[in-house]
Amino acid sequence: MIEFKNIKKSFGDKVVLDDVSHIMETGKANLIIGQSGSGKTVLQKCLVGLFEPNSGEIIYDGHSFTDMNVDERKELRQQIGMLFQGSALFDSMTVEQNIMFPLDMFTTKTFSEKLKRVNEVLERVNLEDINKKFPAELSGGMKKRVGIARAVVLNPRYLFCDEPNSGLDPQTSMVIDKLILDITREFNTTTVINTHDMNSVMEMGENIIYLYEGKKEWTGNKKDIIFSDNKLLNEFIFASEFLQDAKDMRMLEARGKISDDRDMGKMLKGDKLD
Ligand SMILES: Nc1ncnc2c1ncn2[C@@H]1O[C@H](COP(=O)(O)OP(=O)(O)OP(=O)(O)O)[C@@H](O)[C@H]1O
Ligand SMILES: [Mg+2]
Repeated sequence: MIEFKNIKKSFGDKVVLDDVSHIMETGKANLIIGQSGSGKTVLQKCLVGLFEPNSGEIIYDGHSFTDMNVDERKELRQQIGMLFQGSALFDSMTVEQNIMFPLDMFTTKTFSEKLKRVNEVLERVNLEDINKKFPAELSGGMKKRVGIARAVVLNPRYLFCDEPNSGLDPQTSMVIDKLILDITREFNTTTVINTHDMNSVMEMGENIIYLYEGKKEWTGNKKDIIFSDNKLLNEFIFASEFLQDAKDMRMLEARGKISDDRDMGKMLKGDKLD
């Protein structure tokens, strides 16, 4: 569980995060959603210590990250896996070297132990026999998988994914989402995902925070989204007129004003509608 309270972050006089608080739950995919520029990446970077917030507190499973010294943070970082926006693989390294990198940095394992682990995680993301390939030789979806493999190679308790399926087609995106969700369940990680992909929201949205211009505008889960009357959230999620209409229908239906099932039943029986 990662709790953060009253996070504020500015760059110069531009306020990017304004008093944001939330709890990211263990074993769940916790989503940060919002328009481009709303502060999602900055929030994730604050949570892992890549940016220092101007104020507020971040607590990892009861331990205040904010109060930790450099060594304590270094230790915690070993339990954090990150998939950066755009994968951030090292272009001059092979897939194997990329995934082995955190093991080289943080463990004293022998080469064959490290190789075994690299192959385990590659298998976990359904990639095999690509150890000697370079990132430039991989498709976008494969790069993301390699990024995920690298993020989980140290068995993290906390997994951060920034736009894990940006640039991927809808089907490959679903495969990546499912993989992240499976890993979250399997290893009981606290997973934090930034996304503006609506398929992901509807697939994985167990605990969502919606940022609008750096403020927490709304929180809930994917079911709550369907029935929310938060105007800004609706404009964001149901951006097209078609989706807005679909949502309105769904709400009317839920309120018992129309029911296709009931109408269909009447039609089949030859009854008239009231
Ligand atoms: N290092 C930085 N210095 C100055 N301003 C920054 C810095 N990083 C981000 N910002 C600003 O903070 C705001 C939020 O950026 P952020 O990258 O968090 O948005 P985002 O929600 O992740 O957007 P996207 O969906 O496009 O990834 C933007 O206005 C951006 O210009
Ligand atoms: Mg971003």
